[in-house]
Order: sequence, then C-alpha cells, then structure tokens
Amino acid sequence: MSVIRSIISGSGSYLPKNIITNKDLEHKVDTSDEWIVERTGIKQRHIAADDEVTSDLAVNAAKKALHNANVTAADIDLIVVATSTADQTFPSTATTVQYKLGITRGAAFDVQAVCSGFIYALTTADNFIKAGQAKHVLVIGAEIFSRILDWEDRGTCVLFGDGAGAVVLSAENGRGDNSDQGILASKLHSDGRYNDLLYVDGGVSSTQTVGHLRMKGREVFRHAVVNLASVVKEVLEDTNMKSDDIDWIVPHQANKRILDGTARKLKVSPEKVIVTVHKHANTSAASIPLALDEAVQDGRITRGQILILEAMGGGFTWGACLLRW
Ligand code: UT7
Repeated sequence: MSVIRSIISGSGSYLPKNIITNKDLEHKVDTSDEWIVERTGIKQRHIAADDEVTSDLAVNAAKKALHNANVTAADIDLIVVATSTADQTFPSTATTVQYKLGITRGAAFDVQAVCSGFIYALTTADNFIKAGQAKHVLVIGAEIFSRILDWEDRGTCVLFGDGAGAVVLSAENGRGDNSDQGILASKLHSDGRYNDLLYVDGGVSSTQTVGHLRMKGREVFRHAVVNLASVVKEVLEDTNMKSDDIDWIVPHQANKRILDGTARKLKVSPEKVIVTVHKHANTSAASIPLALDEAVQDGRITRGQILILEAMGGGFTWGACLLRW
C-alpha cells in the first residue's frame, strides 16, 4: 500500500556568537562551575546579541536547512516555528521568518509548547504532509530564553541558552511499513495541572508584562524521566519496535542527568544519545534540531538509521517522534 511519508530532507542550525561560560556566571550569581557541571552537565551557553531577535536566529538556521535539503524558499508551502520567545506578541514569528526568506505564498504560524515545541511543530507539519496539504514544510525551533531569565535567580539563569535549529520536511511515497524513510510514529501529551512547576510569571492578559521564567527544578526533573521514557515506549509500541532497534536518541537537552536517566530506563546505551547540553545548555524548542543538525553534519547520523526525538517542557507538555533518517 502506498502512503505519504514526511522525510527530513535537510537540517540546519545557528548559534549566536557570544558564549557565556559557567566561570562568567560566577561573577553574576552565587554559583560555581563545579555545581553547574555536576548537577546539569552544562559548561557554556550561547547568548544572542542585543540587536538579534528570535526570527533572525530562525532565518539563519532555515537558510542552512534549505541549502542542505536542496529545496528553494519558493518550494516551501508552510512554515511552523516552535518558540516561546517570539519577536512580538503578534504577528507570529513564523510570518516574520516567511517575510525575511522572501516567501509570499503558503502559510506560516507559531507553535507554543515550550521545550516540547519542536516535537509539537514536527508532528503538526507531518500531519499537514500526510493530509496532502503541503509538500515541503520548514519546521524551526528558535529561542532567545536569555530575555526571559531572571539573572538574579541562580536556580534558573545558569540553565538556559539561545539558538535555533531547522529542518525541511518533505513528502515522499512510502510502502506503509517500518522500512520506509521518514516519520513512522509520533505522540504528543500535555497535562495543564503542572502549570505552576515551570512557567513565566507574566503575560498579555494577566500582567501585561513579559515576565520571568520560574521553575521548581527538582519536581520537573522527577516528572521528566518518567514521562520521557513512557512516551518513547509508546512510539516504539506503535511501530512494533524495541529499544534495540534505536540507532540514536536525539533528546531535548535540559540536563545531562535527565538524558542519562531516560536512556537507563529505556535500556539504551548512553553512546546512542546525542548530547549537546554541555555546549548549548537548554535552548528550549531549539535544542532538538540543534542536536540533530550537529550529529547529521559530523556524520554520526546516516541515512537508514532509526532515530527517536523526545522532549518535555512547561505545561507540562511532552512527546516523541520515531523516524527513519
Ligand atoms: O527544559 C524543560 C525541563 N526542565 C528541566 O528538565 C529541568 C529539570 N530540573 C533540573 O535539571 C534540576 O532539578 C536542576 C538542575 C534545576 C537543579 O538540580 P537539583 O539537583 O534538583 O538541585 P535542587 O534544585 O534540589 O537544589 C539543590 C541545592 C539547593 O541548595 P540547598 O537548599 O540544598 O541548600 C539550591 O539552592 O543547590 C542550590 N542551587 C545552586 N547552587 C549553586 C540551586 N541552583 C544553584 C546554582 N549554583 N546555580
């Protein structure tokens, strides 16, 4: 049986030039390089320049993804930007990206699922492709979290960074079985009861301010490992695959201990987990496409391999995609 599959035809990423190390942060808040590395694995993060906005980061990543996919901007039917740090309250960052890429056809919108944003955006784009409504979709995760951090709160300001990653998702015919290239299964979850464990204390209709990120880290950590392992099991079950079939896990990069704990729960070797958290810190919706692009460009990820992308974030939201590269 012939089915439409969404394949990632190319990826790209962008990191702002300015790097802030843990040592630099020692001068800002009561913290230490030792504490940050031991508790999170983070050594440094990239921070956007004053004149950079989220759409700038997104456009830089998108241009590389288009080039690597051998797809022109004119071929793009849809742009989905996952971000919680939009340029403006409205219009969407996606329409600004569309304009900056010189695209005047098709549609563009943002998806807001915080750190799970890229999985939400990818799944949305996959559904547009499977429904026959788009052939080439730009899916972007782009964030400037440095602008919503409370730089006096050592419990959060050391954890995040800025960046963007993008993929071109393209329609291809498949056989409808696991030998197909492209997205084979995806699953999204949310549970709004946990709003107060990870949130921004501002908003248009509440305070009329942007607000700052607030997190009860230990409780988020506890939920993360359980939810991530469980949603990965769901996509494995959907495709009748086992942990052994996974070539690479490309996780949201929040904390090295979460990556290790999830891999352990899934009985997947830590060597099969793509790790960038030490260099990028937590870039929210951008972290998965940033990690994916790094491992594609350095040759670790090769065509035919089975990948799991997974994330969990504020809301709570969480989800996973299983795909053959
Ligand atoms: O991306 C969305 C999902 N987000 C996450 O997944 C984040 C999940 N949570 C985490 O990664 C971890 O919980 C943290 C890295 C945020 C914190 O690690 P922890 O091992 O859970 O530490 P904790 O919050 O329980 O704090 C332990 C101690 C506290 O001191 P006391 O009360 O034991 O005296 C904190 O005040 O560490 C202290 N502390 C710090 N010390 C030095 C908290 N932040 C810092 C800091 N430097 N930056």
